[in-house]
Amino acid sequence: MNLIPNQRHLFDIPEDVAYLNVATMGPLPLAALEAGQRGLARKLRPWTISDTDFFEDTKRLRPLLAALIGADEAGIAFVPSASYGLATAARNLPLAKGQKILLLQDQFPSNVYTWQELARETGAIIETVSASGNASLSDALIAAVDPDTGLVACPQVRWTDGARIDLIALGQRCRDVGAALVLDLTQSCGAMTFDVREVQPDFAVAAGYKWLLGPYAMGFLYAAPHRRGGTPIEHNWITREGAADFTRLVDYTEALAPGAERYDMGGRSNFALLPAFEASVRQILDWGVANIEATLAHQNRALAEALEARGLSTGPETGRGPHYLGALLPESAPGNLTARLKAENIYVSKRGNRLRITPHLFTSENDIARFLSALDRHLG
Ligand SMILES: Cc1ncc(COP(=O)(O)O)c(C=O)c1O
Repeated sequence: MNLIPNQRHLFDIPEDVAYLNVATMGPLPLAALEAGQRGLARKLRPWTISDTDFFEDTKRLRPLLAALIGADEAGIAFVPSASYGLATAARNLPLAKGQKILLLQDQFPSNVYTWQELARETGAIIETVSASGNASLSDALIAAVDPDTGLVACPQVRWTDGARIDLIALGQRCRDVGAALVLDLTQSCGAMTFDVREVQPDFAVAAGYKWLLGPYAMGFLYAAPHRRGGTPIEHNWITREGAADFTRLVDYTEALAPGAERYDMGGRSNFALLPAFEASVRQILDWGVANIEATLAHQNRALAEALEARGLSTGPETGRGPHYLGALLPESAPGNLTARLKAENIYVSKRGNRLRITPHLFTSENDIARFLSALDRHLG
């Protein structure tokens, strides 16, 4: 594992901007912009786009996405959003009346509404888990899994405060009781190591525009080997067998593409966004997720100490994602704190009563110094 030196030169972030808000939206690397612009420009001359081009970008990108999470490329589908991937999972995980769906307190809405809908359809019951007493959120979730649990849907880190779930232990517990496990990795994929071979989820989804530094409306869904024979939520021409022969597309077929490709979104061959997404994912793989994680952990450790010294608790490091700080604000904090910081070109977000601070490899010491000095002024 190596600590990565500052990478700001690969981004378009001016010196006087402290962008500490990757949890809201990761900046596109310059290389991804160039790839995306080249891709978009192809549409100026559609006659230069051939039939086989509809398959080329996804063919290159699928194994790269698989490499991020220790998967095989046949387990990867292209989705525009986390909610799309979660809907696919819900469509293919039948539950019985009275079975429990476990969610976390304050979980991201896309990963709640999907299950509320499934509960309405099946008569399953939603149970929301929060940390209680000395038990961490992770321990509380694992303890709540019992033989009545049909499904657990959760993230690797909670979006509000970065609270971390021990997915290996959770995966084991789910298998012990026969519960399905669906993961939303949007707030961790690209910044935290994760391996499907260790966790063995049924489905895992990640929107690509945060920690994968990709364009908006591109993400992926992983389906476990035994979940690749299911039904997609929409039916399009390219996810059927034989789609490569454009002259025979009206020889309609029941046969879906093998593997998770059957779950690919319609319009998946996006000539502008796929090359941009590919460039972002290649950059993440070049750095190495373990190295990114170690570097952000190192940076954030120092920042967490500085916040603690100011009375802003981020909780124990073992309990949070190393890339993710959710600092508890004092009641006296001004309601417009993030707006005041923004006025100084310092970008963070507020979720509940926490200030969410999510820097990346482009964050400089000057960014952090400016942020802390602004906090001192505004929190008085
Ligand atoms: C945990 C989590 N999941 C998903 C999303 C995005 O959801 P969707 O892709 O459905 O728009 C976000 C955005 O903030 C998020 O924090």
